[in-house]
Amino acid sequence: MADWIIRPVPQIQATLQVPGDKSISHRAVLLAAISDGTSEIRGFLPSADCMRTVDAMRALGVTIQVPEPTTLVVQGCRGTFRPAPGAIDCGNSGTTMRLLAGLVAGQPIHTRLTGDRSLSTRPMRRIIEPLTRMGATVHAEGPDGRPPLMIEGAHLQSIEHSLATASAQAKSAVLLAGLFARGVTTVSEPSLSRDHTEQMLDHFGVAVHRAGLTVSITGGQTLQARSFSVPGDISSAAFWFVAAAARPGSSLLVENVGLNPTRSGVLAVLSAMGAGVEVAVTEPATEPSGRVRIDGAQLQGTHIGGDEIANVIDELPVLAVAAALAHGRTTISGAGELRVKESDRLNAIATNLRALGAEVEETGDGMVITGGRPLHGARLHSFGDHRIAMAFAIAGLFAHGETTIIDTDCVATSYPGFPEQLCALCAA
Ligand code: S3P
Repeated sequence: MADWIIRPVPQIQATLQVPGDKSISHRAVLLAAISDGTSEIRGFLPSADCMRTVDAMRALGVTIQVPEPTTLVVQGCRGTFRPAPGAIDCGNSGTTMRLLAGLVAGQPIHTRLTGDRSLSTRPMRRIIEPLTRMGATVHAEGPDGRPPLMIEGAHLQSIEHSLATASAQAKSAVLLAGLFARGVTTVSEPSLSRDHTEQMLDHFGVAVHRAGLTVSITGGQTLQARSFSVPGDISSAAFWFVAAAARPGSSLLVENVGLNPTRSGVLAVLSAMGAGVEVAVTEPATEPSGRVRIDGAQLQGTHIGGDEIANVIDELPVLAVAAALAHGRTTISGAGELRVKESDRLNAIATNLRALGAEVEETGDGMVITGGRPLHGARLHSFGDHRIAMAFAIAGLFAHGETTIIDTDCVATSYPGFPEQLCALCAA
């Protein structure tokens, strides 16, 4: 288990790119796998999580070649999987487990989905309930609807489903099952979660209808193979955005980064906190992408809550670090979902910020951070959670003395090159 030692750096001046978007990479593989024909996916993120999805598709009989680490050639199975020879191990990846559950629910096969210790504690009722209502048999082997999942597929019926919390994974599981169901499947969510599944289905030639917070799909449509370029992951770029935003005089340019409006809330929050944020969309494709320039400033506290939460859900750990470096109070509310991510992120953030000397009050669904206290280096745990490890590596750039992040192997799930990029940034 590798540890990182981080020392403070003065201003950052850099131009960089980040690896492919994790959410889009998963979906590109899944949809190419069930389509008719051969698709080439460029800019794919070859992280541990996304490779779980690749391996799952291979286990279900799909041929995937990897001519280069970030290029996949997928021969679609036209919607018919072969039964997997054994359990499919989804590792740490909630996206793999939940989206795959939706896809196999409409196939006449048994599939067992397992995960690592963290994934085995994550709630699955949000997909078990709708998939069961559609006609699949889904049995959770863990307590309280936790993995492993045993799924027996069936001829599905369409349903109308309302999500209790905005969740792109739950929404996608139902939409993907809806592809194989008779009739029109409809999913409504309380606020808009990332819409990559809808965008990607559209790209593969499937009609998806959206009206406000409701999205519908008619079953029985065949996906046509399509090539796709995955833009850089804005959730990965967010670590560098904060590294630059919180230091007056710093300046950073990130190129080829995904700018889907359901994902770019981090930019609005940093701008509200006083950072200089300039965005140029250069590829107005299915998934828009472009350049982001961040100029550092003395940040000010803000409020992050309501409908904005789903849009910044993965960036909240690093935004909490920005809040500790800002003047004044930042409140985060309505973010109870952070308790059931790869770790209990509200607890992990509060624990680590306090260890660095910040003033934090943890609430049931968020926290209040009173920024401006000087941070001092400390030994911090990753909690086995990639985003906690990376967010606190960024905090270490601002803390006096030395910060150690313990157990950083988890970073490979979303950003294998992070430590090298951090070293390059610090040396520049
Ligand atoms: C993801 C959706 C989000 C996010 C996760 C990736 C996805 O979770 O936190 O890291 O790829 O669909 P929700 O399902 O809770 O929205």
